[in-house]
Amino acid sequence: MEVRRIRADEGAALREVRLRALRLAPEAFHTTLDEASLHPEAEWHDRAARGASGAYEAMFVVDRGGGLLGGMIYTNALADPPHDAFISSMYLDEDLRGGGMADALMQAAESWARAMGSPRVELWASYGNQRARRFYERHGYVLGGVDEPWERGGGSSLYVKDLESEVRAAD
Ligand SMILES: CC(C)(COP(=O)(O)OP(=O)(O)OC[C@H]1O[C@@H](n2cnc3c(N)ncnc32)[C@H](O)[C@@H]1OP(=O)(O)O)[C@@H](O)C(=O)NCCC(=O)NCCS
Repeated sequence: MEVRRIRADEGAALREVRLRALRLAPEAFHTTLDEASLHPEAEWHDRAARGASGAYEAMFVVDRGGGLLGGMIYTNALADPPHDAFISSMYLDEDLRGGGMADALMQAAESWARAMGSPRVELWASYGNQRARRFYERHGYVLGGVDEPWERGGGSSLYVKDLESEVRAAD
């Protein structure tokens, strides 16, 4: 099992893991299973291609072997300086949780953001998602003071991590 960047030819596997995430953990994501199920096949191929080699975006996945993906994280950065970065769509199959694979996904996304020169990373976590919130806090994310209610009920809170102060602290 390894964490690596998605490959351009993995659109079908990406569709599978993303729809599984939306089906099994609907409360964790703003996008719904119904919405994502409507994406045409070409959209998934395009997402995989951009995640593999986009200039300002990247997707990292957990490779379970046999063509199966067990988790994912998506990150993108603003094209204009200072290239603030954003993380979303983080998901890990239930049987892989608590074993450090989520740390590896997060490290891959943050390493990418650092290489982009991003001074900070933003992400959103839904109100009741205590496990994800605890995970993000352990990785140094703090609440950014912005909540976004969802039309269907519930909502999410902004979390922010300052990558620059991390670099300064390590100097
Ligand atoms: C979010 C996710 C990727 C994190 O991966 P993970 O392997 O579960 O994360 P970890 O086990 O390393 O960390 C979770 C932390 O929450 C704690 N935790 C577990 N269940 C909890 C609960 N019900 N309430 C509060 N904390 C909880 C764990 O003990 C751990 O904290 P610790 O490191 O201090 O011990 C994974 O849980 C997941 O895919 N969840 C469903 C989808 C999702 O929520 N995605 C996030 C979208 S914002």
